[in-house]
Amino acid sequence: MNLKDKIRVISDFPEKGIRFKDITTLLKDGEALHYTIDKIVEEIKDKEFDLIVGPESRGFIIGTPLAYAMKKGFIPVRKPGKLPAETVKLQYDLEYGSDALEIHKDAIKPGQKVMIIDDLLATGGTLRSTVKLVEQLGGEVVGVLCLIELMYLNGRETLKGYDVRSLIKYE
Ligand code: PRP
Ligand code: MG
Repeated sequence: MNLKDKIRVISDFPEKGIRFKDITTLLKDGEALHYTIDKIVEEIKDKEFDLIVGPESRGFIIGTPLAYAMKKGFIPVRKPGKLPAETVKLQYDLEYGSDALEIHKDAIKPGQKVMIIDDLLATGGTLRSTVKLVEQLGGEVVGVLCLIELMYLNGRETLKGYDVRSLIKYE
């Protein structure tokens, strides 16, 4: 299956000049969603880790079925004000705008191995911040996996030294 065919590209969303990669067309296709999760399992099966961490909100959509398939726990990284217990917070830049992310302080024990998952690597701001949050808690990031990578934005430059993998690349 060619997963790129399942992703819809929307021009000038949410701003002029941006070609938005819309994964809802992939998600609504049962075969494609199943295939996607199986492919990610295949892609990271050489990695040993305790937990999967994914940033809100599209990271949840990919990260939770993956955690289920691999029998790992899932830790949500959320936009501010959503997590009820004590958190650590980090400000970050987006492809368009800026935001902040939080994680529960007790989500990860020092030394636990973590795989980070998101749908898309663009500038790298989101995944870089997620890495930093995990490390602030003493977690060890063993890898970063994104479904889609926008190569022309060089997001992986912000993740130097980490094992960054992606399934679908846009040049
Ligand atoms: C999108 C996407 C990634 C991030 C990638 O999330 O889901 O998480 O942007 O961009 P970056 O590499 O430049 O940080 P967004 O913040 O739009 O929110 P959403 O997941 O809630 O839709
Ligand atoms: Mg996101």
